[in-house]
Amino acid sequence: MDNALFYRCERCGNIVALVNVGGGTLSCCGQEMTKLIANSTDAAQEKHVPVAVKKGEEIQVTVGSVLHPMTDEHYIQWIAMVTDGKIEIKYLKPGMEPKAEFIVPVAHSEAVYTGENDEEVMNCEGQPCNFVCRTETPKPITVYAYCNLHGLWKVEL
Ligand SMILES: [Fe+2]
Repeated sequence: MDNALFYRCERCGNIVALVNVGGGTLSCCGQEMTKLIANSTDAAQEKHVPVAVKKGEEIQVTVGSVLHPMTDEHYIQWIAMVTDGKIEIKYLKPGMEPKAEFIVPVAHSEAVYTGENDEEVMNCEGQPCNFVCRTETPKPITVYAYCNLHGLWKVEL
């Protein structure tokens, strides 16, 4: 079993998120569950691929660049945000907007002391400085959207 995150039972419709990879086979209703592959169905991309905009700590998600329908028969059931050490799912119902907001702390900067005699380092004003500012590399973020008819879609930030 590889590392797909979401699986569906084709009999009862259960969908599960795999939170820890053990290596076994997931089954439900007496049969193997289907691994959900994002963006794999033949459907309008512009209505399904999530559009995610990061503003500071907030990620604003809309499905998609043309709003997806939210009728009883055809709607986005949930939007999930996955990043290092975190998964968050917002459940939606027909009639709601196909939108979600998530909070992800921004990568922080820190000043690292380099020693008193280090004259190679300059500060922002061009003066010798004993600190170096290091910024954490931002962690990748994946946003998933699940349509009851057209399955799983994703975008990576
Ligand atoms: Fe759809």
